[in-house]
Amino acid sequence: MIILAIETSCDETAVAVTRNGREVLSSEVFSQADMHALYGGVVPEIASRNHVAKIGKLTELAVKNANIAKSEIDAIAVTYAPGLIGALLVGVNFAKALAMALNIPLIPVHHIRGHIAANYIAFSELEPPFLCMVASGGTSLIADVRDYTDINIVGKSRDDAAGECFDKAARVLGLGYPGGPILDKLSQGGNENLYAFPRPRIDGSPYDMSFSGLKTAVVNLVHNSEQKGESIDMPSLAASFSLAISDILVPRVMSAAKEFSRSKIAIAGGVAANSRIRADFLKAAEDGGYELYIPPLNLCGDNAAMIGCQGYYEYLSGNTAGMDLNAYATMDIGLR
Ligand code: KG4
Repeated sequence: MIILAIETSCDETAVAVTRNGREVLSSEVFSQADMHALYGGVVPEIASRNHVAKIGKLTELAVKNANIAKSEIDAIAVTYAPGLIGALLVGVNFAKALAMALNIPLIPVHHIRGHIAANYIAFSELEPPFLCMVASGGTSLIADVRDYTDINIVGKSRDDAAGECFDKAARVLGLGYPGGPILDKLSQGGNENLYAFPRPRIDGSPYDMSFSGLKTAVVNLVHNSEQKGESIDMPSLAASFSLAISDILVPRVMSAAKEFSRSKIAIAGGVAANSRIRADFLKAAEDGGYELYIPPLNLCGDNAAMIGCQGYYEYLSGNTAGMDLNAYATMDIGLR
């Protein structure tokens, strides 16, 4: 089954062509990051307008690079939640028009389910059940993937997402956007024990997380240093900060895998690209005897191939939409 997939939930316009949920025939991603960097974060209207400008050409390119005729496309999959509402609406309406013009099914895909599915592309042998950490710019959660479309959240951030925390810290430090990759690069060679950052726990919810205190800690550190006229050791700050985020994420995922008796652990989302977090997962999985699945960097960030892959399994489970499909800024991953 050949699916053309569309992803416009944030600041990447992406179109891909996938076959049978595992094979990527083409994957085009236009990142708007440079346009938003000027403002220190994503500006929703700029994102929507750029999706409108790019989506048509990107779709033509994806079809051309997949080496298929439009008539060979069996269905259109599209991210319809969660995300920036204006941005999502561009993709949803474009997908509807395509599905109508080609007279083929329309498949709605939850963005976070898509991130999890990036692992199916990278690892053809991976099948549920497994435990998955999804950490991106808008979400941080631990999911028990019982089946391709039966996903249960066992823990999530009560406030900021891990990626948002990286982005906000980088902004306070005047380092630019997106903050995650910048802090990751900067942290190489830094002393990760130089600065103390909090690792909050939430009473009664062992798998829930909180990242907003970390951002405040960076703000306080910058103000205190300015007041005392002290300079900040930036590589060490970046390394200490990354370690704190990893210390919040990794042990929770490992404990949840134990409690839910999952022998396989996967990670997903933009923050899964972080070198400290990847290294800590590798070590923890090796120590605990778990099979670990870490997707390559190009599948961690937003892309449409992951939407096409999850779309295939959504279709198999009977999840298609009509021309009244709408977009939603928020949606529980268990719903559809
Ligand atoms: O998954 P993604 O591309 O978009 C969303 O669905 O949100 O994730 C983007 C987030 C940004 O917050 C970015 O700073 C973060 O992922 N990120 C990283 C790294 N690369 C991207 N965070 C930490 N370390 C990285 N290497």
